[in-house]
Amino acid sequence: MAEPPRTPHYPRSVQLEVKRRMGEADIAAVSELLHVATVADEHLPLGEHMWLDLVEGGRTGFAGFVAWEAGHGHPVGYAQLSRGRTSWAIEFVVDPHHREPGGTIGADLVRAALDEIRREGGGHVHMWVPKPGPQHDAIATANGMSRGRELLQMRRPLPVPGGRGPLRLRTFEPGRDERAWLAVNARAFASHPEQGEWDLETLLRRERERWFDPKGFLLHERDGRLAAFCWTKVHADHDPPLGEIYVIAVDPAYQGLGLGRQLLLAGLDWLARRGLPTAMLYVDASNEPGVKLYRDIGFTVDHVDRAYVVDVPAPPGPAASRGT
Ligand SMILES: CC(C)(COP(=O)(O)OP(=O)(O)OC[C@H]1O[C@@H](n2cnc3c(N)ncnc32)[C@H](O)[C@@H]1OP(=O)(O)O)[C@@H](O)C(=O)NCCC(=O)NCCS
Repeated sequence: MAEPPRTPHYPRSVQLEVKRRMGEADIAAVSELLHVATVADEHLPLGEHMWLDLVEGGRTGFAGFVAWEAGHGHPVGYAQLSRGRTSWAIEFVVDPHHREPGGTIGADLVRAALDEIRREGGGHVHMWVPKPGPQHDAIATANGMSRGRELLQMRRPLPVPGGRGPLRLRTFEPGRDERAWLAVNARAFASHPEQGEWDLETLLRRERERWFDPKGFLLHERDGRLAAFCWTKVHADHDPPLGEIYVIAVDPAYQGLGLGRQLLLAGLDWLARRGLPTAMLYVDASNEPGVKLYRDIGFTVDHVDRAYVVDVPAPPGPAASRGT
């Protein structure tokens, strides 16, 4: 006998809670959801920027959307909104046990976030999705979003035969190198909205992170000023442990001279000496010089992350402000 059709019960019983600031209990409940999704999907559902915003309770422009379903003592989905200088970012996750065909939790979360952006005056929105599938395309389409940039996660085994070259390097000195670093970062990533917009607060937050190790943050100076850097990050709790080329750049005034290649090899050498078996990095798929350099050094694509984008129009009349 055929099974009777299952009626999805959650669309009617799911409630969305909107949070301008997350309390300790909210953070704990959402962290548990993120953990469950990380195990199921083999990747973190929130990017680092969003994660820091969450655990620190939320900064200006923050909104968290927590989906609850009757009969379940834990959130069944979560979306987070953050406001950059020129655009908005949304990320979301649905509990793996609540991703039934025909389910609307993801689409509802994204719609709620877009509605909030509209109320706040609208603007350009990107929604990053790690390892996107057809369900993410469907959620985006249902909300009028289209495919935007793609980010490649590339990996290669360590060590790199031949190691590093003789380039003179020193390590980043907290309290001394911030301004010079921010200036080179902004120039090198002028056309890369997320990275190029880093300010002192963004950098200092990273320096407070447990993983931060200035010994793996390599600088090269020319003509008495910072010319290039390679900042590494160790993901010790990843299985296998990964050594990330976290941010690498050469000041445009010194590009094309071989510094990028040498800084990359020095960063990889540092990670290999820490005993890490695998190196990883993210690069915009359209970043031709970056992708070419990484392929030359033996990196291959592990997976793709995608941004879905939309321009949300301002609501008619004066925009309300949250005043946070
Ligand atoms: C990517 C970057 C670090 C390369 O540094 P660089 O010092 O300019 O590069 P190098 O002179 O060491 O060249 C190394 C390789 O990069 C590639 N490359 C560099 N410039 C390139 C260009 N304009 N077009 C295509 N490939 C290029 C080539 O593979 C080159 O090897 P080759 O000279 O044997 O062909 C630098 O362009 C940069 O800082 N870009 C902006 C920030 C950025 O995108 N960082 C990486 C983000 S993941």
